[in-house]
Amino acid sequence: TRKMILDLDTGIDDSMALTYAVGDPAIDLIGVVASYGNIEAERAAVNTLKILDLLGASSVPVFIGETHPLSEDYVRMQVSADIHGENGIGDVTLPDPSGAVQDQNGVDFMIESAQKYGNDLTIVPTGPLTNLAKAIKQAPKAMAKVGNVTLMGGALTVPGNVTPVAEANINQDAISANEVFTSNLNINMVGLDVTLRTLLTKKETQQWRDSGTTAGKKMADIVDFYINIYADMYPELGGCSLHDPLAVGVAVDPSFVKFIDMNMVVTTKPDAYYARTIGDKNRLDDPNTNVKVAVAVNSKRYLKEFMKNMNNAFAT
Ligand code: BDR
Ligand code: CA
Repeated sequence: TRKMILDLDTGIDDSMALTYAVGDPAIDLIGVVASYGNIEAERAAVNTLKILDLLGASSVPVFIGETHPLSEDYVRMQVSADIHGENGIGDVTLPDPSGAVQDQNGVDFMIESAQKYGNDLTIVPTGPLTNLAKAIKQAPKAMAKVGNVTLMGGALTVPGNVTPVAEANINQDAISANEVFTSNLNINMVGLDVTLRTLLTKKETQQWRDSGTTAGKKMADIVDFYINIYADMYPELGGCSLHDPLAVGVAVDPSFVKFIDMNMVVTTKPDAYYARTIGDKNRLDDPNTNVKVAVAVNSKRYLKEFMKNMNNAFAT
């Protein structure tokens, strides 16, 4: 098994990423850091605790990381409430969490885990990259030892989803994202190039309902909210995107996708190109690359693995 930290802004697809990680026997989920993004960090932490309770996995510790982008206040976008619901989990009610958030800050937990596990540690951020950037800044040597970062964010070969060039997670804090991409960490970028081609429909959520487990039924309620929104916003897709859970899957089995090796930057100038993920034009002939950008995906094979791990998590 591999040691994994998830860094989630716990909305609906983040909740699926969490469930996938709990259900995958190849993953040893050592902690979850809750970030701002789809929702405020405190509420992301509460959602995380609730989902872990639902899955009978309340022994996984939950931390709070940064509560706002590096250089500005956090303001929740209306579109986040539209897509993920007012409470971030499709306005589905779950019991109050049985446990509490850890006292240790999420960034410190990342650094401590990097020191402890080094190459054996995988970090999967599926929200803004503020926590990871801060950890790299505070402890560059320890963080350089982390085996792999597989993040959901960015778009290289397709348009953005919040502006014509920017994907939501990168757009939340482009400065931090640029620091992460230009660090010396090994990064797999799982962006809109592949996540918009990896879809879930009500056929699958109906299977969760039919399984008869409480967890499966609740998750189906949460995800159907997302599927309904996607039907309105992106009728051409025919399902909802498995953005965040795809990153977890690729972290364990990179062969779900095809990568292009590159050095990447994020544009941080406040103009129309803000928060674009793009190849670093000054390093195109540098043979040492640190980013692998996923550009194609075997979504059929991934969906099988996704359903297997989700059902595992519901059953325990
Ligand atoms: C990303 O933005 C968030 O709303 C989703 O949770 C996902 O991480 C997709 O652009
Ligand atoms: Ca997310």
